[in-house]
Amino acid sequence: MSYQTLTVVELTQETADSVTIHLERPDRAAISCRPGQFLTLILPCGPGGKKERRAYSLSSTPHEAPRLSVTVKRVTGGLVSNYLLDTVKVGQQLEVMEPLGNFTLSPSPKAARSLVLIGAGSGITPLMSMLKAVLKTEPNSHVLLIYGNRNEESVIFQKQLAELEASSGGHLQVEHVFSQPLNPGGAHRHSGRLNRTMMLRILEQRHQFPAEQAEYFMCGPEGLMVEARAALDLLNVPESRIRRESFVASGDTAEAIAGPPSGHGDVSTSPADDTKATRSVTLQYEGSEYIIEVPTGKTILETALDQDIDLPYSCQAGLCTACRGKCLSGKVHLDEREGLSDSEMKQGYILTCVGHPMTDDVVIEIG
Ligand SMILES: Cc1cc2nc3c(=O)[nH]c(=O)nc-3n(C[C@H](O)[C@H](O)[C@H](O)COP(=O)(O)OP(=O)(O)OC[C@H]3O[C@@H](n4cnc5c(N)ncnc54)[C@H](O)[C@@H]3O)c2cc1C
Ligand code: FES
Repeated sequence: MSYQTLTVVELTQETADSVTIHLERPDRAAISCRPGQFLTLILPCGPGGKKERRAYSLSSTPHEAPRLSVTVKRVTGGLVSNYLLDTVKVGQQLEVMEPLGNFTLSPSPKAARSLVLIGAGSGITPLMSMLKAVLKTEPNSHVLLIYGNRNEESVIFQKQLAELEASSGGHLQVEHVFSQPLNPGGAHRHSGRLNRTMMLRILEQRHQFPAEQAEYFMCGPEGLMVEARAALDLLNVPESRIRRESFVASGDTAEAIAGPPSGHGDVSTSPADDTKATRSVTLQYEGSEYIIEVPTGKTILETALDQDIDLPYSCQAGLCTACRGKCLSGKVHLDEREGLSDSEMKQGYILTCVGHPMTDDVVIEIG
């Protein structure tokens, strides 16, 4: 896992409670990333100066290199977001992990696709990166952004979005949805909740975005995701065309027990058998093999970190997939499965930050 120290080169106040932090390496070398990935900031703001990690999606795109930008929104009572918004300064150095994450798209000049991006609040950040990358690289593609906010003043990237839309020659359309608008009315502005009815109303008017052919990316609070999924179900959009990312754990420990292909391990979301005090886990990481004894109640990641095995991780909440590994044998229980798609679960992927071994023969390949 690669760590970097980046310099804050500029700050952009986006709204009263959100700021974009623009970062560069001191030698201005580019850092490889894909649209939709996130950066992990490591900040000494925990109790007693303890280092805390948080994931922040890149709102910049690879063509903005050497600059990487993240946009942070204040969370009431939140440790890191408040620390950043209250203390970050131009010239400051920040420790980060290399960009990670699988909520990405790969722009291609030959692509001619319809992308529907659905977001709310700070969930705009990865979508912003994606839409800028597509507009820059794919002259034959069209992007529809459906963006929910409380009111006009809480719209992150308001000016940038308006400029991108105006200069896109019709390739970008932005539909704003305000739950409590200051000035109701206006073209491409909708008043009310961004629920399934609102989404259907917007989608049905957009003939360039035929429901069954478009690709959908969504990022926002759990309520938004549920509504969006319900709207897309009504339009018969297959699961394979929908990608989602959450910033907050859903607490969804669905009873689904994924059946990985034969020869692979089992991933389970049902409660672990805790009759044994510890269970043995073999970790394969960067060419080395580590055997650890994971105590009941501890995650595989916590146990590995306690033993100074420098595994990759970021959110520690089962959301970002930085800690993703593939279970090659044995059974693993996951406390949270938000970050993994059904297809990843079926392939035997697990998240070490929320993973507990259920058998003694667990082997996990990390990376
Ligand atoms: C993959 C990924 C990408 C992310 N990208 C961004 C981004 O681009 N911009 C951004 O601002 N944040 C982003 N986040 C959220 C970010 O990592 C932090 O969780 C957030 O800043 C809160 O951290 P904190 O230390 O301030 O709050 P904490 O001290 O960790 O939490 C305080 C309380 O707030 C709740 N909480 C945490 N996050 C949120 C939230 N987003 N909304 C509402 N309640 C919350 C917690 O459950 C907790 O109860 C992302 C998270 C993930 C997993
Ligand atoms: S560290 Fe984010 S999913 Fe495990």
